[in-house]
Amino acid sequence: MLLTDWNQILDNILPDESNEALISKRFVEGFIEALGFNQQEQVPQFSTGNGIVDFAARKNTDGDNFLFSKTNPYLLVEVKARATGSGAKINLSEGTPQYINTREQIKRYLLASKCNTSQWGIITNSVHIQLFRRHGKVIFPATPSILIKKDNINAIVSNVKNLIHNPPKALTVCVYNNKGGVGKTTTTVNLAATLAQQGKQVLVIDFDPQQGDLTKSLGLEVREISLYDCLSDRDLDIHDTIQPFPVKFKSGKSLKFDVIPADSKLGNFTEQDLATRIEKGSARLKDVLKALVYEYDYIFIDCPTNWMFFSQSSLYACDAVLIPTKHNNLASLDNAAKVIKELVPKVKAARQDGGPIALPIFFNGENITPPQLKIANQEIVAIITKEIKASKFNLLPYFYPKYIKDDTNTKIFSLPSYAIVAGAAFARIPAAFKDSTAAKYYLELAKEYFIL
Ligand SMILES: Nc1ncnc2c1ncn2[C@@H]1O[C@H](COP(=O)(O)OP(=O)(O)O)[C@@H](O)[C@H]1O
Ligand SMILES: [Mg+2]
Repeated sequence: MLLTDWNQILDNILPDESNEALISKRFVEGFIEALGFNQQEQVPQFSTGNGIVDFAARKNTDGDNFLFSKTNPYLLVEVKARATGSGAKINLSEGTPQYINTREQIKRYLLASKCNTSQWGIITNSVHIQLFRRHGKVIFPATPSILIKKDNINAIVSNVKNLIHNPPKALTVCVYNNKGGVGKTTTTVNLAATLAQQGKQVLVIDFDPQQGDLTKSLGLEVREISLYDCLSDRDLDIHDTIQPFPVKFKSGKSLKFDVIPADSKLGNFTEQDLATRIEKGSARLKDVLKALVYEYDYIFIDCPTNWMFFSQSSLYACDAVLIPTKHNNLASLDNAAKVIKELVPKVKAARQDGGPIALPIFFNGENITPPQLKIANQEIVAIITKEIKASKFNLLPYFYPKYIKDDTNTKIFSLPSYAIVAGAAFARIPAAFKDSTAAKYYLELAKEYFIL
């Protein structure tokens, strides 16, 4: 579509009080077409299996016309009006109640039964627009909510078009809590093993140069070219740092995931050194991983506590942050809250690409009695209440993801304490690979967060 068309649409044809039908007709249909889906590749009022989304789109293939078959949508679009019937403006900028409702609505549609093939969701009222990406169960922003202007509409179209036609394959997850000993490394390695068992291609990055627990627990060593070399030298190829971790089972079956081992060289530097040696600082890791997000299904980053360069780089590079906590450790709960309300928003503001998001917390590695759970819940309610008062930030969905208006469910996913998990650090093989109970626990974790 020509530049002048958008100008005219945005200027004259869409009055401030435009309703949904007008916006759909004059803006959204053209927008979807500009993304590369013709009239035969768009279905209005698409039935998702859990409500009706305003538009669904996908490319037609030989003998399969989306408009007729209405199956396997790729992109969903939820349209809002510019104003309510009574004339009040509808504001889809991030954080408003209308925004949050619309975001939750597109998430629901993307996860609905007839949308298993959907990978992208757009919300727009022609004033704001935001693209979301779905990877398994995880839905996260692929752009911020952008205020549409005449001078950025073409850039928005080309950015969205580029993303949806060259989709990354991987979900990049940073396992992080600003607290040591909560099970970050253990979770990372066992999730990697579990997802490999589920047929996924998985890469793990040991970005904890001082401890290097993950690398040690697998008996791996850094290759000739290390991660630090790649961070500091643009001409090197990140593929040269990757070590396969293959496992052959008694049954004859073999599996593998890949690892970028811990680089002890990185541990020799101070924050100051790293800032001068690595151009772009904590934004650089994301650059280095760029090629890999088209190759793996999952990339996990294990990073240290309390060391800004590493945690910031990891948050900068990831789509989602998975936060292990301990029910009986208030600091781990407080630190989880800090990651969610402070660190993630800070990195998000610096990135300006919509990411990262925090996933809801889980309890790791302690068995919980009902009285203990009661105490943990008192602490959590206190943390949530304090934060609402202090900054209006709502932590509730991050602590109690199943809590909704009509169902005050406060269940928090819990990964039990299990001796074989602890012992596996010396066994050179993840517990999830060698023990069926451990495998079951981590499969439950993977299903809770990542896979359908
Ligand atoms: N589910 C579990 N059951 C038993 N022990 C666990 C479990 N998860 C972690 N651990 C043990 O807790 C300790 C700390 O875990 P680790 O993954 O090293 O934490 P972090 O990386 O957060 O510092 C390790 O000794 C580990 O073996
Ligand atoms: Mg660790």
